[in-house]
Amino acid sequence: MPAYQFILNGQTVSVDAPSDLPLLWALRDLLGVTGPKYGCGVGVCGACTSHLEGDAFRPCIQPVSGVAGAHVTTIEGLAGDGLHPVQQAWIAEDVAQCGFCQPGQIMAAVALLRKNLDPTDADIDAAMSDNVCRCGTYVRIRAAIKRAAR
Ligand code: FES
Repeated sequence: MPAYQFILNGQTVSVDAPSDLPLLWALRDLLGVTGPKYGCGVGVCGACTSHLEGDAFRPCIQPVSGVAGAHVTTIEGLAGDGLHPVQQAWIAEDVAQCGFCQPGQIMAAVALLRKNLDPTDADIDAAMSDNVCRCGTYVRIRAAIKRAAR
């Protein structure tokens, strides 16, 4: 099997995998990075949302061969010396309920705020509408994004 190298949360990693293995499987099963969650596996729920070169993407529908040489960031790589401001806002607004979708929600929110520092409710809804939360934490997600944008 070929080895694919990429930069994961600032570290070069290498995985031996079939070229069409979804990156989510490589992250979770081969590299032990379990922040990106498996929800639907077909790119529609957002539970696995991570960043590819700084933009939100869905590793469950991204073959591992397609990220060779690229920068991938998961929720594990978001914090620096302290929690990321979006993570802090999430805690302040007590967003999580069961928590399963929250890594993907936070990564989607960070990607939104990188492009739009003052999002309106409509901007937030447009950016986040494909990240499903079965607990219905959407109101608190919106509040946390607005808090982080302050
Ligand atoms: Fe990737 Fe649902 S598990 S979008």
